Amino acid sequence: MYFIANWKMYGNLSSINTVKNVIKLSKNSLFKKIKIIYCPPYTLLRPLVKKLRNSKIQVGAQDCHTNNEFGAFTGSVNSKMIKSVGCKYVIIGHSENRLRGDTNNKINLKIKSSLKENLNIIFCIGEKLKEKKNKKTNLVLNSQIINGLKKIKNSKNIIVAYEPVWSIGTGVIPNSKDLDQNIKNIKKTLKKKFKFKNPKVLYGGSVNSKNIIELRKIRSIDGFLIGGSSQKSKNFIDIIKKTIN
Ligand code: PGA
Repeated sequence: MYFIANWKMYGNLSSINTVKNVIKLSKNSLFKKIKIIYCPPYTLLRPLVKKLRNSKIQVGAQDCHTNNEFGAFTGSVNSKMIKSVGCKYVIIGHSENRLRGDTNNKINLKIKSSLKENLNIIFCIGEKLKEKKNKKTNLVLNSQIINGLKKIKNSKNIIVAYEPVWSIGTGVIPNSKDLDQNIKNIKKTLKKKFKFKNPKVLYGGSVNSKNIIELRKIRSIDGFLIGGSSQKSKNFIDIIKKTIN
């Protein structure tokens, strides 16, 4: 099971102390098999890598530039830089970035540039409310997968995070039956079109320490991408404990 903390644009230097209790939890033998990954803002990547040095918890960035070479792109950070500070993961295609101009094509380039640096990709997909209402969910998800992963053969380093846009930050989660079906469809496409042997698909969108009781029952889910509830270690730990116990 994966537990990925997406801090978004939250946190300053003192925020990294919140991981103390999560480090303790990760050393408990009960939680040996889980993977915990923190994705803080760029400014906290290096301090967090240092803080987590003696633990199995990994660090990832929340985005990267399409180009993995250095260049004149003011304000941008690329996969080479992310790798060089000790990160192992990068989130690509988050809906908040799709809203700001990340097309499937751009996302495809970002994934390719990150694979060149041997990073693990957390590839986000998800339909908007209108698309769900028009029964376009499958169509949208398939197109995001097929275009996002175009000409990519290295499926080993890619995890998919299914995050319905209408569920991010809203407190609303999909009903279990729909969610299970969507996750299974995503896995089917990954196997059929991209030869994933054992695709890992996470769920993200308003995961909290209450709804995790329902979400954990859905066996097709391989973990969670957690925004708001990952910023305080108590909530994050609650979610992990309730999923595993
Ligand atoms: P949320 O965010 O848990 O706050 O809904 C999830 C995400 O955007 O990855």
